[in-house]
Amino acid sequence: MNIIFLGAPGAGKGTQAEKVSEKLSIPTISTGNIIREALRNGTEMGLKAKEFIEAGKLVSDEVVIGIIKERLSADDCNNGFILDGFPRTIPQAEALDTMGIVIDKVIDIEVADEAIAKRMGGRRVCAKCGASYHLEYKKPDVEGVCNLCQGELVQRKDDAPETVLERLKIYHEETEPLKDYYSKTGKLVIVEGQEEVADTTALTFKALED
Ligand code: AP5
Repeated sequence: MNIIFLGAPGAGKGTQAEKVSEKLSIPTISTGNIIREALRNGTEMGLKAKEFIEAGKLVSDEVVIGIIKERLSADDCNNGFILDGFPRTIPQAEALDTMGIVIDKVIDIEVADEAIAKRMGGRRVCAKCGASYHLEYKKPDVEGVCNLCQGELVQRKDDAPETVLERLKIYHEETEPLKDYYSKTGKLVIVEGQEEVADTTALTFKALED
């Protein structure tokens, strides 16, 4: 099954993509995670993307389409995959179509902007491996320390309140039109994000069965 997760920044796409990935044993491809890893490793692409990602702006279509083309050609995508954070613009969605990629389901996680701003303030990520935590909803075993690699937990630069506002603005302008794009294909399902992660997951699993 080939699945796209749509939604505003911080709506919980990554969290739900992880649950579906475990359930269906298919990989999650997060363009955000791929770019942040390139940034940590200081690659040429990472350096080019740095100022955009940290300011909450979109990285160019050309760069992210290149990332996706390469990633989808890997063997682990043969039985299906989950796209988390791609496409984010109409040209990116058109690029998937041009590549001949057939999408089975597009799940749009809907959360009000005000709730998002609150959630993002509590997110912490591992500076070493990128694993994601939350001060309230997903606490690490030891405060400030990653469960997986013992790296230090820090706030993402683009989770600063003013940058979150910029990301939400760009989402409404550039990404939200994709709801209409996929609604026309009959593949779009809307999931109302809930207060509890488990409740959203139950709705997400149900959306996949419908
Ligand atoms: P990316 O990493 O994709 O960021 P994003 O879309 O802004 O999404 P987030 O990871 O911030 O949020 P999410 O919806 O996955 O939510 P999460 O599950 O983490 O992209 C970052 C940047 O990379 C972009 O700004 C851009 O520069 C660049 N980029 C990436 N892809 C690109 C593309 N295709 N084109 C151009 N540029 C691109 O949840 C958020 C928090 O809320 C977590 O702390 C979580 O624990 C908590 N939470 C989740 N669900 C719940 C719940 N139900 N209740 C309470 N808390 C919850």
